[in-house]
Amino acid sequence: MAIKSIIRMGDARLLLVSAPVHEFGTAQLRGLISDMEDTMKAAGGAGLAAPQIGVLQRVVIFGGGRTARYPDADAVPYTVLINPRLKPLRGGREEDWEGCLSVPGMRGMVPRYRRLRYRGSDESGRPIDRTVSGFHARVVQHEVDHLDGVLYPTRIKDLRKFGFLAELFPGQEVADE
Ligand code: NI
Repeated sequence: MAIKSIIRMGDARLLLVSAPVHEFGTAQLRGLISDMEDTMKAAGGAGLAAPQIGVLQRVVIFGGGRTARYPDADAVPYTVLINPRLKPLRGGREEDWEGCLSVPGMRGMVPRYRRLRYRGSDESGRPIDRTVSGFHARVVQHEVDHLDGVLYPTRIKDLRKFGFLAELFPGQEVADE
């Protein structure tokens, strides 16, 4: 439908808790998801949460193949996830580099649960129930954080491992953010 502008860190809307979706299959929901898809694709992101385009509803999208920003990531299936619930599974946490379209040009080392089960609904209200690990688990945790007003820099344990992508990984091809 349309490529929306992505709200950046500092905008107070990114710190708010989003509201659950109660009605599925509506034109409003279809339009929102379509806008999110267009926006994520245009930005080359691995995921996008509705609040990042200023819509405070519990809707995230992610996956859909390797992206320019995360070329080494295992392929994560394209997923629309609404009203998500996460349950960490045994396996502890691991740290890895993370970025965010709302924090353009930067990367930080963020601890996330290695394995988790997530449940929610797709755009039609059909249930989703998956057990995942690694990059898939990381992306889900990152996107669901957006629904609770949490941005990844607040989860970094050692702020020395936070900086500009071009400085952290010089010479690496940097996707437009
Ligand atoms: Ni993000």
